[in-house]
Order: sequence, then C-alpha cells, then structure tokens
Amino acid sequence: MKLVQVENDTEMSQVAAEKIISLVTHNPTATLGLATGGTPKGVYAELRRDYENNHTSYHSIKAVNLDEYVGLTAEDPNSYKYYMSKELFNHINIKSTNTHLPHGNAEDLNEECVRYEKLIKSLGGIDLQLLGIGHNGHIGFNEPGTSFESRTHLVHLTEQTITANSRYFSSYEEVPKQAITMGIQTILCSKEIVLIASGKEKAESIKRLFKGEINESFPASTLLLHANVTVIADKEATALL
Ligand code: PGA
Repeated sequence: MKLVQVENDTEMSQVAAEKIISLVTHNPTATLGLATGGTPKGVYAELRRDYENNHTSYHSIKAVNLDEYVGLTAEDPNSYKYYMSKELFNHINIKSTNTHLPHGNAEDLNEECVRYEKLIKSLGGIDLQLLGIGHNGHIGFNEPGTSFESRTHLVHLTEQTITANSRYFSSYEEVPKQAITMGIQTILCSKEIVLIASGKEKAESIKRLFKGEINESFPASTLLLHANVTVIADKEATALL
C-alpha cells in the first residue's frame, strides 16, 4: 500500500483527480468506481475544472458507484444518485446510460444486489475505485464485521455511521437505516484502488490502517491484501502515523 502524504484537502483532491484524468486519457473506455460523501467533493470539483479547461472526454467511460441508500428517490437531494449528478455527471460528457448506482428503491433489494454485481462484471470490472474511509474503518457501507468475501449486499447501517451522515439530513431520524453497497470482495476485485482521507477526524482510521493488522473488525484493512492501493491523505489525517 502506497502512501502519498499531502498538505491539505485541496492537494489531496488534485492528486486524486490527476490519477483519474490520467486513466480516462489513457483508457477512454475505462470503468471508474466512484464514491460519495464529503471527502470526494473536491476531487469532483477538480474533474469539473479539468473538463472545462482541457475537455478530457468521458464519452465512453463507465461509472459504477459504491453504494446507495435504501428508500430515497433519485430526486431526493440526499440520494447518492442526486449527489453524483450534481457534483460530477451533469458537468461532463459521460452518457447517463453509462452511470450506475444501486437502485435503493428496487422492489426486491436482494435481487438488486445480484443485478448490480452482475452489471459490474459485465462492464469488465472496475479499473480504478475511489474510496473514502469511515471513522470505524468502513469502506462503502461495509461496516465492521463484514466478511471480506462479501459481494454487493444489503446493509443495516450502524449508529455511528447514521450519526456521522446525519450532518447532511435535518435530523437523525431522517437518515435511512439501510443501504446497498458493493461488498468488500467487489471492491478488492478492482484493478486499482485510491483511498482519500483528509482532516483530523480521519487520523485514527489512517493510523489503524497503517498498523498493518488485517481484520474484519476494521474493513479498510482488507486493502492490505490488494497489490495496487494508493492512500492519498493530508497532514491532519496522517498526524498519528
Ligand atoms: P466522508 O465519508 O467522506 O463523508 O467523511 C467517508 C466514508 O464514510 O466512507
């Protein structure tokens, strides 16, 4: 696992965006694995800026997102579908038919998980997966205790995650309690993984990740089993290393 230590969130976003732009340029039919949350916002801002200035083309690029809440419509500003359109997809020339997130409103959620997993396979797998990290080490919505063998599945969010995400909702009660997420094995099958972290509230997770102990109680530690992982983390997030 390679560590790129950067000054701050801005530099983290630039370095991560450069990796994505380089892939899109060299492999114009690549499949990108994308993430939501606070951390990737700056990365998407960099991609928007690059598109405006350099016209990097996403014409044949495919995108699959890590996860989606259960029960929110695509129009709900808290859905990840809405987030992706607003932060990235509406601003670049990616085809909407090439952008994919799990359907959190599917009638049969377990069937939806199977469909999503097959979809990723049919796209030839993920060339580069962007990841954030939770305070408890979750990746996607894979909470502590999730099997490293897991594929796309339905999850009940932990109180810690609901509390962390409630900052985007008007109250704790409004945060969905379930989500569909790529599994840990789904993520591990990506050819390349880029994990981004900024801010002091991520320092404990980054410290535990680099301690090197592989354990299902800390989902991100699964990344130690992958041959091509880059962690891009700022000063605050690496302060305890
Ligand atoms: P954040 O979430 O980017 O909003 O901190 C990261 C995560 O929970 O994976």
